[in-house]
Amino acid sequence: MSTHAADPSVSIHHLRAFKERGERFVMLTAYDFPTAEILDQAGVPVLLVGDSLGMVVLGYDSTVPVSVEEMLHHVRAVRRGAHRSIVVADMPFGSYQVSPEEGLRNATRFLKEGGATAVKLEGAGAMVDLTARLVSVGIPVMGHLGLTPQSVNQLGGFKVQGRTQSGADQIVEDARSLADAGAFAVVLEGVPSEVGRRVTEAIAVPTIGIGAGPHTDAQVLVISDLLGLTGGRLPRFVKQYADLRGTITDAVKSFSAEVASGDYPGPEHSY
Ligand code: KIV
Repeated sequence: MSTHAADPSVSIHHLRAFKERGERFVMLTAYDFPTAEILDQAGVPVLLVGDSLGMVVLGYDSTVPVSVEEMLHHVRAVRRGAHRSIVVADMPFGSYQVSPEEGLRNATRFLKEGGATAVKLEGAGAMVDLTARLVSVGIPVMGHLGLTPQSVNQLGGFKVQGRTQSGADQIVEDARSLADAGAFAVVLEGVPSEVGRRVTEAIAVPTIGIGAGPHTDAQVLVISDLLGLTGGRLPRFVKQYADLRGTITDAVKSFSAEVASGDYPGPEHSY
């Protein structure tokens, strides 16, 4: 992983340059100020305020219920912590599907009121035209193809996409359309590695994979999964790099035990 720590601030144009140089990079989700500050200082070039917020922070069953106001609240917090990283705001379900005008209005809010650098939209089809429209007024757009969680009800669950020849071809075609419309990067979620490779070779802008195999230009994980904060069963593509759930549990148990025994607060913690 390249941390790009020397960059004063990252722009969407740097990401394309990373791809051209064959330099793999990472994107991570962030939902709050301290996490954004840590990731920014660790040199993570792209912070995504994902609508995964709904599941990992707000306790919803899917990303479908997440509102623009909920997203904005967290985008602002992340922006305050991120001084160098690009901040991408995920447009929640229903905020861009009803009409292009509403999509434009809500995307504008993420930049003006949230301080985001860019927005992310799921899907192709009508989203290709919307991407072109947003880009034409100066709003950078990240696409998202494959397993698009906002369509979980249509997909019939969180299932790997592009397993058939026609499904795979469609994803490659959709990625080309989004790149042609001006998307500066495309997230590929839950697709076979071969589809990740094909899309990465087909477009000039970076692909950012999550459960899309090793060939994409970048990788993204949900920060709570990477840190071991998420409970329950995790998807196969997740690698936990820490066990913060265990660390927090141990810390809280130690605190409770020391309060019970009278060891805390000691004289050094008292006035
Ligand atoms: O909402 C999210 O966190 C995402 C990533 C999984 C790409 O869309």
